[in-house]
Amino acid sequence: MTNPSLLILAGDGIGPEVMAEVRKVIDWYGAKRDLTFDVSEDLVGGCAYDAHGTPLTDETMAKAQAADAVLLGAVGGPAYDNLDFSLKPERGLLRLRKEMDLYANLRPAQCFDALADFSSLKADVVGGLDIMIVRELTSGVYFGEPRGIHKEGNERVGINTQRYTESEIARVARSAFELARKRNNKVCSMEKANVMESGVLWRDVVTEIHAAEYPDVELSHMYADAGAMQLTRWPKQFDVIVTDNLFGDLLSDLAAMLTGSLGMLPSASLGAPTANGRPKALYEPVHGSAPDITGQGKANPIACILSFAMALRYSFDKGDEATRLEQAVEAVLADGLRTADLIGEEGRAPVSTSEMGAAIIAKLD
Ligand code: NAI
Ligand code: MG
Repeated sequence: MTNPSLLILAGDGIGPEVMAEVRKVIDWYGAKRDLTFDVSEDLVGGCAYDAHGTPLTDETMAKAQAADAVLLGAVGGPAYDNLDFSLKPERGLLRLRKEMDLYANLRPAQCFDALADFSSLKADVVGGLDIMIVRELTSGVYFGEPRGIHKEGNERVGINTQRYTESEIARVARSAFELARKRNNKVCSMEKANVMESGVLWRDVVTEIHAAEYPDVELSHMYADAGAMQLTRWPKQFDVIVTDNLFGDLLSDLAAMLTGSLGMLPSASLGAPTANGRPKALYEPVHGSAPDITGQGKANPIACILSFAMALRYSFDKGDEATRLEQAVEAVLADGLRTADLIGEEGRAPVSTSEMGAAIIAKLD
């Protein structure tokens, strides 16, 4: 049997630093759990621009399409801020998402007990929180036509168009219902059907897919603005939330911050199932390249390590091994280990990126 393939695109800034710790985790699984991946590495973002004059070469794109999963660090940095829009590091990431057709973005908001005090909300509101936001990623107002800025008489007009087709809504709804079946069988769909026709269609299609294919899952609907309020008031009422690209962008950031630091947040972007049954998949931490701490050994590798845990669960059907890794992270936090981003007013001494990685490996052992 051939090993599953994993393409690593560490990217820019702290990307390579946090990815180095993930490599240790991957090596551990190969050595100790007989779970070996064919790992290859390539460039994306600013480093790809430096080497090839483009943030993502066609060769790298083809490798990503062929890989069983792609693991990405982060892209961007001040050195690339003045590049033409089409050459910016982010374009590499957007091209990956678009061409792999990764339409379902999974953003967990999970509160590790050891960090409950770190949240801006009360510990009993966030303690034990474990919800998943499924954001539609490849359509909606970020892509709809017409768009642009033009002149009407004496003033400029900026236009973006929210557009969803039935099939685009149906496929992301299915992703959410499938996920709910593996969790607590509960989906809340959020839109603004009160003021947007695309929201009316969204609600109708989600309702139809539910009735026809997932009647066993509990479905509710909420206006997205009310959803934002409920997420801050009592987030534990939710399990899976499914919503469009724009609302998902906002709500997933909001939900994520309930639990603490950017350095803790993983994500997965999934597409349609391929011939071998695995979805097209890209896993990446939510954070960016953090130029302010690059090269200082301060970056928290946990977001990237938890992204690999999501790969184990959603691409490689190794939910048990994913749980093992998540428990190792939890145990390290319970021991009091903190990278600098996880230290508030308490003034305890932070551990470095590689110390955190090593501690997690030690717990795995
Ligand atoms: P950022 O996420 O890079 O950093 C925001 C703040 O969080 C910084 O103070 C940073 O030090 C801290 N931080 C982020 N990740 C951390 C980690 N793992 N451990 C400890 N602290 C961490 O967002 P920012 O500053 O807005 O953007 C910096 C660059 O990253 C820009 O070029 C931006 O375009 C790019 N970016 C890339 C993303 C990606 O690759 N998916 C996402 C967001 C931004
Ligand atoms: Mg965002």
